[in-house]
Amino acid sequence: MEYRKLGNTELELSAITHGAFAIGGNMWGGNEKQDSINSIHASLDHGVTSIDTAPFYGFGLSEEMIGEAIKGKDRSKIQLLTKFGLVWDGSNNEKGEFFFDAEDEGKTLPVYKYASKANVIKEVEESLKRLGTDYIDLLQLHWPESTTPICETMEAMELLIQQGKVLAAGVSNYTVPQMQEANRTLHLVSNQVSYSMLNRAIESDLVPYALEHNSGIIVYSPMERGLLTGKYFKEDKLKDNDHRNGYFSQFDLSKVKNFLDKIEPIAQEKGASLSQLVLRWTTLQPAITVVLAGARNAQQAIDNAKAMQVNLSQDELNFINTALSEI
Ligand SMILES: NC(=O)c1ccc[n+]([C@@H]2O[C@H](COP(=O)([O-])OP(=O)(O)OC[C@H]3O[C@@H](n4cnc5c(N)ncnc54)[C@H](OP(=O)(O)O)[C@@H]3O)[C@@H](O)[C@H]2O)c1
Repeated sequence: MEYRKLGNTELELSAITHGAFAIGGNMWGGNEKQDSINSIHASLDHGVTSIDTAPFYGFGLSEEMIGEAIKGKDRSKIQLLTKFGLVWDGSNNEKGEFFFDAEDEGKTLPVYKYASKANVIKEVEESLKRLGTDYIDLLQLHWPESTTPICETMEAMELLIQQGKVLAAGVSNYTVPQMQEANRTLHLVSNQVSYSMLNRAIESDLVPYALEHNSGIIVYSPMERGLLTGKYFKEDKLKDNDHRNGYFSQFDLSKVKNFLDKIEPIAQEKGASLSQLVLRWTTLQPAITVVLAGARNAQQAIDNAKAMQVNLSQDELNFINTALSEI
């Protein structure tokens, strides 16, 4: 495993960080509790020291299971990354910005983006409880929202840093202008954004911004939520209550399959999986500090952690990039 400093902080994260969205179950067709706990243990046993979650993942369940999985472990060797700013329990009294309707066991839960100072502080207290810890290594605003001034949200994070409840502050899904505005109040160490072989929009603006300002980029959905593992073109099927039934439809699937067929021999030659090849490529892109690899069981977690053992030559990278340009 490789460990990388986030921006100008002392915070070192594992280049492959465990993504804990799917273990929340909701939106992902459910998940078995023991598989979830095992996935975290497997990551930690294979050099992954950092775990990314959010209160929204499984409506608190992802954070709770992480809390259970790390109980009794040396906390100083684990970095917990969580978020705030998505409210589903009605506690915002419809303040903030309506985002979408989530489904939970047949109930509809309106989800709001809400990042007022009081809400940030409240959410962090709840996260600390669920995670069973007294500090969060990296706290991130989950989504920008338009009803709270950015400086108010940043002040809340600054206060939490002063109180020692949070070590570093970041955001997620921010644009460059939003980063610029936030940085007037508080130095943001990272922006968590979607990026993959199929989704490279950040290369034109957020990547140059991060390089110029020495801030970290934390990549989410690097395997396009499982699509780039290639398995959905083979045997695997999605459950009806899995959001990816809709998510995958944004891609031209026959082109994606052709692309994966082209690069699979590189993986095979190395005794690696397609997911490892995809993850390793992602860790090698400019300004990318950390790649969040979602894993819902031990096997996936081990496979993902070992992606860092895959060596890619310049010729192989060129071959992959050419194949990408032909999609
Ligand atoms: N900030 C945000 O707005 C945001 C949004 C999305 C995600 N995230 C974060 O980023 C993390 C990663 O993104 P993601 O979970 O959306 O997508 P991802 O990492 O691209 O894909 C994860 C999914 O791919 C499949 N998979 C993973 N490893 C595999 C392996 N080795 N072999 C075969 N299949 C494998 C699993 O799904 P199946 O087993 O069901 O196939 C898994 O749930 C999340 O967990 C979360 O922490 C943040």
